[in-house]
Amino acid sequence: MMQNRILTPRHIVRVVIAFVFLTVITQLWYYGPPHALRYPTTGAANGAHPIDYLIKQARQSQDDLLAKQTHDLKSSAEAYRKRRGRHPPPGFDKWFEYAQKNNAIIVEDFFDQIYHDLNPFWGLPAKHTRQQAKQLPFRISLRNHEMQEFMDDSNWMKIWVGMVEELKDLLPDLDMPMNVMDEPRMIVPWEDINSYVKAEHAARSLAAPQHVIQELSPLDVDGNEGKKFEIEFIEKGQYWDTARVACAPDAPSRSVPAVSNSSGPPPYCTGKTSENCKPDASVWLSYNGYVSNWTKVKDPCLQPELRESHGSFIEPLSQSSTRSLIPLFGGSKLPMNNDILIPPAMYWAKKSLYATGDTHGAEWESKAPRVAWRGGATGGKHHKDNWTRFQRHRFISVMNGTQVREAQADENREAPNFQLQPYQHYLGTAGQNMDLAGWLDAIADVGFVDLLCYPKNEDHSCPYLDPYFKLVKGIPLENMYDFKYLPDIDGNSFSGRYLAFLRSASLPIKATIYSEWHDSRLMPWLHFVPMHNSFVDIYGILKYFIGDVKDNGQGQLKTKHGHDKEAKTLALAGQDWANKVLRNEDMLIYVMRLLLEFARICDDKRESMGFVGDLE
Ligand SMILES: *[C@@H]1O[C@H](CO)[C@@H](O)[C@H](O)[C@H]1NC(C)=O
Ligand SMILES: *[C@@H]1O[C@H](CO)[C@@H](O)[C@H](O)[C@H]1NC(C)=O
Ligand SMILES: *[C@@H]1O[C@H](CO)[C@@H](O)[C@H](O)[C@H]1NC(C)=O
Ligand SMILES: *[C@@H]1O[C@H](CO)[C@@H](O)[C@H](O)[C@H]1NC(C)=O
Repeated sequence: MMQNRILTPRHIVRVVIAFVFLTVITQLWYYGPPHALRYPTTGAANGAHPIDYLIKQARQSQDDLLAKQTHDLKSSAEAYRKRRGRHPPPGFDKWFEYAQKNNAIIVEDFFDQIYHDLNPFWGLPAKHTRQQAKQLPFRISLRNHEMQEFMDDSNWMKIWVGMVEELKDLLPDLDMPMNVMDEPRMIVPWEDINSYVKAEHAARSLAAPQHVIQELSPLDVDGNEGKKFEIEFIEKGQYWDTARVACAPDAPSRSVPAVSNSSGPPPYCTGKTSENCKPDASVWLSYNGYVSNWTKVKDPCLQPELRESHGSFIEPLSQSSTRSLIPLFGGSKLPMNNDILIPPAMYWAKKSLYATGDTHGAEWESKAPRVAWRGGATGGKHHKDNWTRFQRHRFISVMNGTQVREAQADENREAPNFQLQPYQHYLGTAGQNMDLAGWLDAIADVGFVDLLCYPKNEDHSCPYLDPYFKLVKGIPLENMYDFKYLPDIDGNSFSGRYLAFLRSASLPIKATIYSEWHDSRLMPWLHFVPMHNSFVDIYGILKYFIGDVKDNGQGQLKTKHGHDKEAKTLALAGQDWANKVLRNEDMLIYVMRLLLEFARICDDKRESMGFVGDLE
């Protein structure tokens, strides 16, 4: 997670340069073989920028999703049965009432993550999960609507306790073990999960109402009996090798081992087939160079290159993973982890280092058409031999005009931690016939506030990073909103300020490999701008939105040929949507649904149990 930091404002006068705008849109396909260099024949209007097309598609997808909205108990239960193949869990009527009372937008798809996380538990005996939940050390327990916590003293745990407490009158008895570490904890082999999920499918039933048990059994049926579970945790070895076991047998990453030497810039996947790069990967990752399938772009199982270009795999801060499926709840995970997601504690607090309460920034028009990023050099433990692969370091460097200028002067177009790709592969409309380095000088205000050297130096210096990064002054979160563009990059795990960025009236540009509770309710290219983890698309994205820049003589930038109107539309759409479906109320509605479902999974009679009140 992000490091605490001291943030103070920063003002810089920049040298500003005017540019020639490239009018012909470069047809690019950074991943693809040459045949893919053409625009797809369907969809994109002739001459339209690929991003125009992606935005249009996103609007359509959002309309399709909203058409599924339900407004009463009967149609919500119906939508549930259709999507999940069984009756809703007992308590569904109370859940619906609670959601409606809180003005929630109810679309069954918004809860998909719950079923992704919980369905495998149908493959284990209810008693097994129930007893494990009761034995795991840190947990929130409810008996007869009273909270009983078995706490550690972490702040996150306290916040989660507060979250569940708000729901205590509405929830059945349950035990909810919490992951109090930052890292996700479960990596169950794909073959096991596959057999559990098959069992879940087999157990689906829409039995006639008279055959359905409508009440949960008492939770403590076993008394205190039950075997003690010994859960083993893997704490050594390369995390990549531990993790790829959870990838499907035919997934590109499953058979690709971790690397031991991560020096120099990361590998780029530019169409040549290699261990890192499967040629068909291009088809689903990218639409003319821009992210087209966000779910897939975030998935390390599909991109072996991430083993050597993301800190979580190069050397995570710590690791402790079990191969068993245990009921453990936490705030974020990789797609290959099996933890049960709940809203991260950082998102719950209204005002904190990660939230600015009712402050969302000024009107779009008064924000600077520039890019701001601040943070620590996290991502894992970087070392002298492999810092060049860490995502935050790479991002700061590709946005640094000086480093880009030096790379352009190098015959291999190489910087210590990135390589400028041929224009047709990655620049989109940016870079050709323009002074890329000068343009970055003008638009980017990014830098580290802490280098987090390993081993640690008393004076905060870092011999292997000092030549490439200087510490810059922090910017308080609410002053970040003075900038139109806010990239958001993973730290040691997910980035805790993302929700604040979405709620602000600036435009988040997001790259991540982490999954969160809200994933099925946020639409890329409508509520935020998705970015590839290699950052090969960042220049094209910024060129599309910002365009060319010119100083007006008073240290302010004038822009030309950009898509400011589109940027504003997306920023405000994201903010509006966050205020509708990512509110604290929405988090509670999600948690309530999750826990009702979990309570049924822990019940011996689960297969014949459900809510059928609407059918009688
Ligand atoms: C890692 O690879 C680089 C480039 O191939 C090489 O120069 C370096 O010596 C290698 N480092 C180790 C520790 O093997
Ligand atoms: C992205 O890929 C997933 C997984 O294959 C698929 O289910 C989904 O429909 C795709 N989404 C889009 C927008 O194409
Ligand atoms: C990064 O460097 C550290 C320290 O030399 C080493 O333990 C780790 O295995 C390296 N990781 C990779 C992926 O090269
Ligand atoms: C940008 O790169 C140059 C050259 O490597 C470096 O001296 C400078 O400190 C970097 N700027 C920031 C903000 O890190």
